[in-house]
Amino acid sequence: MARRFDGSTLIVASHNAGKVREISDLLRPFAVDVRSAGELGLAEPEETGQTFAENAELKARAAAQAARLPALADDSGLCVVALDGAPGIYSARWAGPDKDFAVAMARIERELLDRGTAQQDWRAYFVCALSLAWPDGHCETFVGEVHGQLVFPGRGDKGFGYDPIFIPDGYAQSFGEMEPDAKHAISHRAAAFAQLIAACFPDAPDASASRADADPRAN
Ligand code: IMP
Repeated sequence: MARRFDGSTLIVASHNAGKVREISDLLRPFAVDVRSAGELGLAEPEETGQTFAENAELKARAAAQAARLPALADDSGLCVVALDGAPGIYSARWAGPDKDFAVAMARIERELLDRGTAQQDWRAYFVCALSLAWPDGHCETFVGEVHGQLVFPGRGDKGFGYDPIFIPDGYAQSFGEMEPDAKHAISHRAAAFAQLIAACFPDAPDASASRADADPRAN
């Protein structure tokens, strides 16, 4: 049984404005006062984990202990099947110190072309691990994915990071072309979030809907 969140303030343990915006949007229905780690001047711990879940947990725990409040962290990235899952947990690092995702997306395209991968095999998936940690070190973690196809050049200027080159299965638009609400309905972050809400916010008005999303057997 997961520990329930019963506070009123939640720290979003991220300095990434795009992620803070998306997580705040997702939390809007739950009447939680959301503060970001950047706003509170909390330090960013080094991401030394080997998996998305390990990195999400260490970021959430560091923020919860520093702020003495429950903290939610996201570790996420894009895994390209033909590149053996790269950039994966190194997705942010591929953008370099200037956080230039044009550079990171160009590197993916170059590596796919160097390997001679056929276009129909440019399969990829986003992964999101969400960890909710409390100041006493307890942590709950949920992982979501969304699968799709890569496209070059990238399309659209909405979203952030690798959104322009990712077309989710069943859609014609890239994440970079979709309205935020459309992306939020199907994203890796939304999938992890639905599990988090069902487990840790079970009394929230939307939790039963989230539970149905998270567990296909409930549909
Ligand atoms: P980290 O979780 O802070 O290590 O950063 C993960 C990186 O993955 C982000 O900086 C983005 O570049 C990328 N990423 C994660 N989620 C998304 C998404 O929803 N759209 C586009 N890029 C994403």
